[in-house]
Amino acid sequence: MTLVPTMGALHDGHLALVRASVHRGETVIVSVFVNPSQFGPYEDLDRYPRQEARDVELSIDAGAVAIFAPPATEVYPEGFATTVTVDGPAREFEGAVRPTHFAGVTTIVAKLLLMVHPDRLVLGQKDAQQVAVVRRMMRDLNLDDIDLVVHPIIRDADGLAMSSRNRYLHDDERQIALALPASLAAAQHCVAEGQTDGTTVAAAARRVIDQAPGLQLDYAAVVHPDTFLPLARINGPALLCVAARIGPTRLLDNAVLIPN
Ligand code: PAF
Repeated sequence: MTLVPTMGALHDGHLALVRASVHRGETVIVSVFVNPSQFGPYEDLDRYPRQEARDVELSIDAGAVAIFAPPATEVYPEGFATTVTVDGPAREFEGAVRPTHFAGVTTIVAKLLLMVHPDRLVLGQKDAQQVAVVRRMMRDLNLDDIDLVVHPIIRDADGLAMSSRNRYLHDDERQIALALPASLAAAQHCVAEGQTDGTTVAAAARRVIDQAPGLQLDYAAVVHPDTFLPLARINGPALLCVAARIGPTRLLDNAVLIPN
């Protein structure tokens, strides 16, 4: 059985994960749990979109056999005192900008795996650092008898990576947000032209974001997809990761870099 963990507010990106698993002949369970412990004190927990009835309908339409939506009091009962923290790939980037985020993610993912006992866990490549951190945790805690399946990023027609947080964007902000995929394209172009210096390639992405009015760059970096350590030279597996803010909304995107 396959688990597709979500925080609800399902969009076509999530549903693509469900459909791909169903298509492979797997029995799919979708978990829907807005996990408070992965939100920082000033983040969007209160305004995070909630639409549970619709999420159930969408999941079933996409072929899931069941929805697992435990109440917070069951997931984190009175006296809850255990946290799963990962160092290594969780240290920089999202881990530095959102210091408590990954501990919240790894704690809930470990709990979901132990509660649901799936054979497979499906995550989206959109949150590439989350994938690296969960992979590390699964290896370190001997949870790697569960297969980790990573689904490619699903994009809207305009190129923006699908995310539940995109619905916070007004039309003009959405136009500005397109600088994220444009920054990835600039970096990929740079690599296609023969550039292998990680800093130079990241700078090409950064320039595109810096030129977009109203978009504040958090980081643009070339990293190893498993360790999330910055790469000085692109001569093997490499990811370009960007994070930027438009007002209170933070958006992430990433792309694989393939040297000539
Ligand atoms: O990617 C997400 O939506 C969440 O971080 C996850 C994996 C469902 C854990 O709450």
